[in-house]
Amino acid sequence: MDGRLFGSLGVEVPVVGLGTWNMEDDDRRAAIDAIRRAVDIGLTHIDTAELYGSGEVESLVGEAITGRATPRVRDRVFLVSKVHPRNATYAGTIKACEASLRRLRTDRLDVYLLHWREDLPLGETFRAFETLREQGKIRAWGVSNFDPDDLEEAHRLVGDGKIACNQVLYHLGERTIEHRVIPWCAEHGVAVVAYSPFGGTGAWRKHKTLDEIASRHGATPRQVALAFLTRLPNVFAIPKSANARHVDDLAAARDVALTDDDVAAIEKAFPRGPWRGLPTL
Ligand SMILES: NC(=O)c1ccc[n+]([C@@H]2O[C@H](COP(=O)([O-])OP(=O)(O)OC[C@H]3O[C@@H](n4cnc5c(N)ncnc54)[C@H](OP(=O)(O)O)[C@@H]3O)[C@@H](O)[C@H]2O)c1
Repeated sequence: MDGRLFGSLGVEVPVVGLGTWNMEDDDRRAAIDAIRRAVDIGLTHIDTAELYGSGEVESLVGEAITGRATPRVRDRVFLVSKVHPRNATYAGTIKACEASLRRLRTDRLDVYLLHWREDLPLGETFRAFETLREQGKIRAWGVSNFDPDDLEEAHRLVGDGKIACNQVLYHLGERTIEHRVIPWCAEHGVAVVAYSPFGGTGAWRKHKTLDEIASRHGATPRQVALAFLTRLPNVFAIPKSANARHVDDLAAARDVALTDDDVAAIEKAFPRGPWRGLPTL
């Protein structure tokens, strides 16, 4: 499966996209090639943030999608960036977004997120998001690392149809959001974007159940993990890779159709556990 509707935004977005956290530490040429490869083969949901490499990663993404060699790539990208919560006053959000646009060498973001919540009033950030939307600098906005109470508060402030997505930690070893976050988002037309779907850099471990299912499907274990995490209709995943070969591997996750037995086996091997509050990396 390639794409599905992104919450109530009314646009189709690829189920598997590409994250960019820590790309400033990767080989720059390889990272740019990986992003371009991702866009070429349909992993067009590119996630970044002003925080990543203190803006360096946005500059890298900008080069990848708007360089002279790739003038029209930007139009195919569903580009997401995030405001740091310490910048998320009304004026600070507008300024941060404009700086992100400059680094990304574009005139608009598809979605702009509040990276996580700190002490600043949500209403102020959301008012800035609405101004940016009216100015055409962002197409939509959303949140990240919001638990059900935060989501309720946000929803009370803006109502239905405004919060495009909630980007949250979700991987096989951390399925807590299945209890209360995914259902809340499904009910309110908010897309769930699973970050760190492999548990983050260096966390991936070999697992017999995944190996068995992968070999039955002629797939790789990471593809099976992504297929499992995106099995529900409002969930998307943004694995990070700065390696074009790995990007090809991620893209093929779209072709893995898990059976009910596969899903049951994975649920047993990686138990959900009780609700423990919203986890972060
Ligand atoms: N909103 C938030 O607060 C938040 C927090 C964390 C992350 N995020 C977003 O989510 C994205 C993904 O999370 P993440 O970066 O923490 O980690 P991740 O996607 O769980 O794992 C990334 C690691 O997996 C490796 N990898 C990926 N595909 C592979 C493949 N096919 N074969 C072998 N290795 C592979 C990558 O190495 P290579 O690069 O060598 O392929 C990298 O070391 C981030 O980049 C960021 O955009 C958001």
